[in-house]
Amino acid sequence: ESFDVVVVGSCMTDLVSQAPRLPKAGETIHGHKFFIGFGGKGANQCVQAARLGAKTAMVCKVGKDVFGDNYIQNFKNNGVSTEFVGQTDKAATGAASIIVNDAGENAIVIVAGANMLLGVEELQWAGPAMGGAKVLICQLEISPDTTLQALRMARERKVKTIFNPAPAISDLHPDFYRHSDIFCCNETEAELLTGRCVVLSLQDPAPRHVATMPVAALDTTGAGDSFIGALAFYVACYPTMPLEEMAKRANQVAGVSVQGVGTQTSYPYRKDMPRELF
Ligand code: RIB
Ligand code: NA
Repeated sequence: ESFDVVVVGSCMTDLVSQAPRLPKAGETIHGHKFFIGFGGKGANQCVQAARLGAKTAMVCKVGKDVFGDNYIQNFKNNGVSTEFVGQTDKAATGAASIIVNDAGENAIVIVAGANMLLGVEELQWAGPAMGGAKVLICQLEISPDTTLQALRMARERKVKTIFNPAPAISDLHPDFYRHSDIFCCNETEAELLTGRCVVLSLQDPAPRHVATMPVAALDTTGAGDSFIGALAFYVACYPTMPLEEMAKRANQVAGVSVQGVGTQTSYPYRKDMPRELF
């Protein structure tokens, strides 16, 4: 079996509170809504790629708990292969406490839990699937060593790699750049890593700005993941498309996601998007 997109990354249960604003230290405020959703950057990206039509597999670890069981079912509901989803009784399924304010901005605390137990053993198990994929995506919500190893393995097998350095760390090992075909970060991550914001490629080193349509943002949580999942879909399924065009289309997909509440709940399916995107 061969996949378009394989993600080696995180799963988190999102515990979301909507409130007028983000609380200050030591403060308690009233929120107006609470819900539980499926999140985690890796899983979000995988689900978005799957919803656009990519054949996907997730390499991850969840806990042997109700959150983990539910998450595996969520992957199945989205057509994501769960062959390489491990379950452990040594840690709980990752959880993200999220507060979204009325401006659609968020603050997130993640407790990675089982995600941190994803290691080289699981990579070996998933190795053939990773090596046969068109695109591999990684982020930084699992152990950085595992992430780097996954990128290395993919590169050795000539699989295109997309690396999303999120959540951002300031002392990123240089090998992360070396093993990423596409290095995709948001403005805060770019600033933390380079001190400024740039978009460029080896073939086309002049920084380019990709124009977007203005939308009314309701909840931007996971919008970056929607973008990356969509980008991976284009890299895998339209490999000759110029990167700038892929970014433009992925932006349109992510633009839909910010207009809906939650992360995966707001991600569009192929049928929801204009036909000229495919
Ligand atoms: O990028 C958004 C995601 O970050 C959320 O789904 C949350 O789980 C955190 O991992
Ligand atoms: Na959203």
